[in-house]
Amino acid sequence: MSKPLQGRHFITTQEWSTEEIELLLQTSWDLKRKFYRDEPHALLRDKTLFMMFYEQSTRTRNSMEAGMTQLGGHAHFLSPDKLQLSHGETAEDTARVLSRMGHGIAVRNCDWGVGNKFMRSVAEISRVPLINLQCDLYHPCQAVADLMTIREKFRDEVRGRKMTVSWTYAPSYVRPISVPHSEILLMTRFGLDVTLAHPPEFKLKPEILAQAEANAKAAGGEFRIVDDMDAAFEGAHIVYPKSWGCLVHEPDRQAAVKHIDKYPGWIADEKRMALTAPGSIYMHPLPASRGQEVTDGVIDGPHSVVWDEAENRLHTAKGLMALTM
Ligand code: CP
Repeated sequence: MSKPLQGRHFITTQEWSTEEIELLLQTSWDLKRKFYRDEPHALLRDKTLFMMFYEQSTRTRNSMEAGMTQLGGHAHFLSPDKLQLSHGETAEDTARVLSRMGHGIAVRNCDWGVGNKFMRSVAEISRVPLINLQCDLYHPCQAVADLMTIREKFRDEVRGRKMTVSWTYAPSYVRPISVPHSEILLMTRFGLDVTLAHPPEFKLKPEILAQAEANAKAAGGEFRIVDDMDAAFEGAHIVYPKSWGCLVHEPDRQAAVKHIDKYPGWIADEKRMALTAPGSIYMHPLPASRGQEVTDGVIDGPHSVVWDEAENRLHTAKGLMALTM
């Protein structure tokens, strides 16, 4: 296998060309076929990935860990409280050491105002590729798995498909804005017509919106923003309703939760799904708050592709590691 991306960091999809993302998707499909045919694909035999998780994870951790095993290597799960970080060793010194012992470093750090800066400081120091497993601003691994899923469901005919990325109600905690950022950035590049819907308090970062607008223009597609969930669902081929916080404009977490509480009607339910185009799909990166973000009838119903989407986290994680490490 030729590896033109060996050694490349993966912090945002914006920093990879469309050809490079295409190569990642093709590699992921090839690895998915091999997985189902039980064909050997130990492309990373004897290689080591260090994964630093500052937050909880089900899909991301297990897609990377199982993926490394299936590729013939090993992934170490590192929790900062068990490292000398907890005694004051700097993250940069930790990265210097880890990058001399293995072949890749992967980090999840969603701390607001910290996560992305931390990724970039580790990437600068590391001798090996850095994979962003979600930060305060981006979740590129999720977006790539979602693009793979959309292309599978629409048999590669995605140009001009209408995709709605919508805010939903979920008051239990303030979720990062990294998923909606990454969705609007990547899908506009691949020619989807993207509608972003949210109540006024839940705006995304202006520079990300400007990038999405520019991506859509370059790809010959559209990008629009509305504040009405019903209008956003009308005629959509793909709906991606999920909650996010309003920390861009409201850094106080308690105050942010109060804003969420104003909009319990923002839920993906059967009535709204009936507004979408025939054959539409419902997506969510998971975990979903059932009864708040989405009804059981929708997430378990005929439009839902959430389990295929979650599975594709494995295949794209393997593609990414096989190409960069
Ligand atoms: N979608 C996602 O990143 O899931 P986890 O938080 O479980 O990793």
